[in-house]
Amino acid sequence: MKRLSASILSADFARLAEEIRDVEEAGTDWIHVDVMDGHFVPNITIGPDVVRAVRRSTRLPLDVHLMIERPERYLREFAEAGADWLGVHVEVSPHLHRTVQTIRELGVHPVVTLNPATPLCTIEPILPDVDMVLLMTVNPGLGGQSFIPGMLRKVRECRDMIDRLRLPVLLEVDGGVNELTIGDLTAAGADVFVAGSAVFNGGDYASNITALKKRM
Ligand code: DX5
Ligand code: ZN
Repeated sequence: MKRLSASILSADFARLAEEIRDVEEAGTDWIHVDVMDGHFVPNITIGPDVVRAVRRSTRLPLDVHLMIERPERYLREFAEAGADWLGVHVEVSPHLHRTVQTIRELGVHPVVTLNPATPLCTIEPILPDVDMVLLMTVNPGLGGQSFIPGMLRKVRECRDMIDRLRLPVLLEVDGGVNELTIGDLTAAGADVFVAGSAVFNGGDYASNITALKKRM
């Protein structure tokens, strides 16, 4: 089953609970939460307290994307704040296997995340231990960037790798997902589609989400 994960990075933070209720009613399957530390990426966004507030605003699964250095320091806090899925970037996780095991022990689905330039071979050994791979299709840090076309091939290769190993691992894509790119990403084998600006910027949320889901 394909799923849409609305990224609240493009929501109005002054009305966050209302925005979340609106996209829930408009048909999003998950809520995607982008955590940035001003080190791994230049931008600074939100921490565990806001994730806790988001948790109180919805019953939908929370898909928490950590764009932070040394993510292992904060796994428990984000798990206790209510993350259902917790993603760490391989570029900043030297002890990735241990980190992934810790996430699972905390009762959360482990996710490994790759920047556009990070090769798939970095996650092949860990694939049996995770529940989802998140491929960045833009450079992380900002909403509203253009999809990097070369990432389609990487999505196809990742799909093949998961299928070849016969693993029940979901494949998620994040960055520049919109009406124009989502069809190709679906054909390439993605399962979960993160969309920020395509959901929140302009128009009404229900028609934005319906237009995306029609192409998934
Ligand atoms: C970017 C974030 C994304 C972001 C996507 O670093 O990881 O989740 O919200 O935004 P759009 O969908 O606008 O590209
Ligand atoms: Zn994200």
